[in-house]
Amino acid sequence: MSTTMVSPRPARVAVLGASLRKQSFNVRLAALAARMAATHGAEVRTVGFGDLTVPPLDTDALETDGVPEGARRFGDLLTETDGFIIAAPEYNYSVSGVLKNLIDWTSRIRPWPFTGRNGLLLSASTGAVGGVRGLWALRVPLEGLGAHVYPDMFPLAYAETALTADDDLADSALRERLDRLVGAFVDLTRTHALRRNV
Ligand code: FNR
Repeated sequence: MSTTMVSPRPARVAVLGASLRKQSFNVRLAALAARMAATHGAEVRTVGFGDLTVPPLDTDALETDGVPEGARRFGDLLTETDGFIIAAPEYNYSVSGVLKNLIDWTSRIRPWPFTGRNGLLLSASTGAVGGVRGLWALRVPLEGLGAHVYPDMFPLAYAETALTADDDLADSALRERLDRLVGAFVDLTRTHALRRNV
């Protein structure tokens, strides 16, 4: 009888700050989460939202030209990693149309690149609620596409003062909470990846 040895390896985690704005709070929060994930042993791949640009979804264009490059790039990144961290702005109490459009295009790839991936959702907002309503909306398509979205989420309120100039969190208790959350997510993602034996 032979047994298959599973060699331990780091969790591979893709990190996306889902805003095109140059000084985006979400991009800065994503950068902090990426640093934390690396300290918890993850192999981190960050991607710029500007590198995932896609046109408005048009199923005629899908039939003639296929899935556009930005969505294929996102799909490849998801396929090559075990999990993803997305920091996404809340627009009008919901998920940003730009991000939803990217997810919609990416959902046309088979098999779905989201399936079986662990996901952690963060948001940063200038408002008091921190963007959590946008994250509840973002969970829906991601879970519909087979991602295991981590139950806990991290909304950052008043981002303009909560983030320091060097992209850290000014409040040490809040920083500790994010660090614990990212650490738990990395551990779970690694365990799932080893179980899948990939
Ligand atoms: C916003 N903003 C916002 N903020 C919030 O907490 N709840 C909301 O519903 C909205 N709605 C909204 C709609 C639109 C169209 C814009 C442009 C902005 C404010 C938003 O959180 C703020 O602009 C953040 O700075 C955006 O994130 P980035 O680009 O800094 O990452």
